[in-house]
Amino acid sequence: MSFYPGKVIITGEHSVVYGHKALLSALSLGVTCEVESSSGVVNHATTDPYLKHILQLCSRELGVRDIETTLTLKITSTLPAKSGLGSSAAVAAAVITAVFEYYGQHLSSAKLYPLVLEAEQYVHGRSSGADPSIVVHGGSLLFQQGVTTPLESDFLTKQTFALVDSGAATESTGEMVALVAHHPEREALIVAIGAVSEAIVSQLQQGKYPVSLIRENHLLLARLGVVGAAAQDIIEQLWRMGIVAKITGAGGKTSGSGFILAWHEDSVFLREQVNRLGVSTIITQLGNNRGKYNEN
Ligand code: MEV
Repeated sequence: MSFYPGKVIITGEHSVVYGHKALLSALSLGVTCEVESSSGVVNHATTDPYLKHILQLCSRELGVRDIETTLTLKITSTLPAKSGLGSSAAVAAAVITAVFEYYGQHLSSAKLYPLVLEAEQYVHGRSSGADPSIVVHGGSLLFQQGVTTPLESDFLTKQTFALVDSGAATESTGEMVALVAHHPEREALIVAIGAVSEAIVSQLQQGKYPVSLIRENHLLLARLGVVGAAAQDIIEQLWRMGIVAKITGAGGKTSGSGFILAWHEDSVFLREQVNRLGVSTIITQLGNNRGKYNEN
């Protein structure tokens, strides 16, 4: 059995695709996979094209034919899909690890990462590697052009966050990345987000939650066209309550934009206020799952 966590992006979604720094944290929610030899039970992989793709990748790497008909997968997820919480990377990591274990092979994080990245290209089109990286390593980390560095501060792990549901995105991550690619002001907006991300990381490393920089990040993401009306409305309500909020992940345009990452220094106040919104919310810590970061 294997478990891999979901994630949030504190800063750097979309700009990370263009080589800028992103800061990500693992969630305690995630995906579990158990593998058994097939006994006539319906295998998800025969109906789900993403799972089929992951199992074909396992077949190729392990040199074992027909894994998709030989094995039955039992996948349990506490992560909502299409919500910016890293579900596709966590599914890939959990399935690949469980299948390799079934065939007696242990995968180090270093070997798992490129396989999750390859699997995820199927959903992301052009994944930066940020989601596979945090899902595989856990904790909180900085990601830039394939290089990961653990965050040198435990400030984030001591905070309480609310994840506020603005609704699942209609668009896939790949579609949102493509939308940004065609934005007429893309270059300037991405550079600005890159600069804001650097400043956010620096403040967090000094033990401060960068309230106005997170707001700037949100406004830049909204200008980039990745924040839909429903998410914008919730984020404005949160800001009026004095709660710091932004989307996390690829976002969404026509319906929901996934979960909104909300913070306030007073966790009791945060809880009370988000409950007043009348939408589904998750109260959580970040980065406490150290995952397999120290493994080779
Ligand atoms: C998706 O969680 C984050 C994006 O930056 C895409 C990527 O990094 O591949 C939107």
